Amino acid sequence: MDLYQEAKQNRIDFQSEIDALELTEQSVENLRIKYLGKKGIIRYLFQGFSSVKPEEKKEYGQFVNVFKNEVEGKIEELQESLIKQKTVAEVFDHTMPGIRPQRGSLHPISLTMREIVKIFQEMGFDIEFGPEVETDYYNFAALNFPDNHPARDMQDTFFVEKDILLRTHTSPIQVRAMQKYQPPMRLITPGRVFRNEAVSARSHCIFHQIEGLYIDENVTFADLKTTIDIFAKRYFGKNVKTRFRPSFFPFVEPGAEVDVTCFICGGEGCRVCKKTGWLEIMGCGMVDPNVLEESGIDSEKYSGYAFGMGPDRITMLKYGIDDIRLFFDSDIKFLKQFK
Ligand code: PHE
Repeated sequence: MDLYQEAKQNRIDFQSEIDALELTEQSVENLRIKYLGKKGIIRYLFQGFSSVKPEEKKEYGQFVNVFKNEVEGKIEELQESLIKQKTVAEVFDHTMPGIRPQRGSLHPISLTMREIVKIFQEMGFDIEFGPEVETDYYNFAALNFPDNHPARDMQDTFFVEKDILLRTHTSPIQVRAMQKYQPPMRLITPGRVFRNEAVSARSHCIFHQIEGLYIDENVTFADLKTTIDIFAKRYFGKNVKTRFRPSFFPFVEPGAEVDVTCFICGGEGCRVCKKTGWLEIMGCGMVDPNVLEESGIDSEKYSGYAFGMGPDRITMLKYGIDDIRLFFDSDIKFLKQFK
């Protein structure tokens, strides 16, 4: 019998073996070894190819290939029906330890922002957002920055085109909110801001702010101080003290900067607070009547306060991070530490 004859016979035998098969793991495995194993029939048929008559080579090759696919397909089918017969408990070893999926974590700045926003929400502030690409009007003009006023130089601006820019602070949301809502309003507005500054360990051209705004009848500076003091104690710790230093922002009058006692050394003086015992955390003040009027709010009837703080700096202080660029490097090893 030449090899081609033999192959044909093998194919017939295979079919009868399948027909007579009693389905068990062992019988399927034996069949697999017999036909597909290293010393199996299929391999034997391929190895004998050179002894086949030249005029039959093509046909023979095709035949053996079809046979091989048939065997592989059938054995796979048998293996699958074996698995289907098993119960889940037989297939899965439920005593094996599980594989923990990799979970992402919140960015440290997101954590800080969420925590801060939550404290104000609990005090009755609503969240408000605004666009990152702003007009000169909302970012400056409506906030009482006159044209060509040197105060505009306080904030180096990325211009998209004339009068269109990347917001340099979250204060434009104040104006948008005052145009949109009637007093009383209490808003907290987290967001990203942009300034055309050289990137270094201490400053970045992208950072974040959280703006607060409260407008109602008879809002006073005492309300501002109380609210900020409550916030500082909740966020930094109940022994923290606050102090307000006079400062200038065109859209508030009077304006102030707020310091908290250093939450690292408790006010004793350390490296972080540069031995002063105090850390600056925000700018604030009473909304300038010009800004109220510009946004259609009667400044005789209403008054309000605004504040703006930098969660990047607060996060750096809180976790002892000494390079702001780490926030933007997407280094998983750094980011994973904040949970
Ligand atoms: N927008 C000011 C800044 O970016 C901060 C600020 C907000 C000051 C609200 C006063 C009131 O510097």
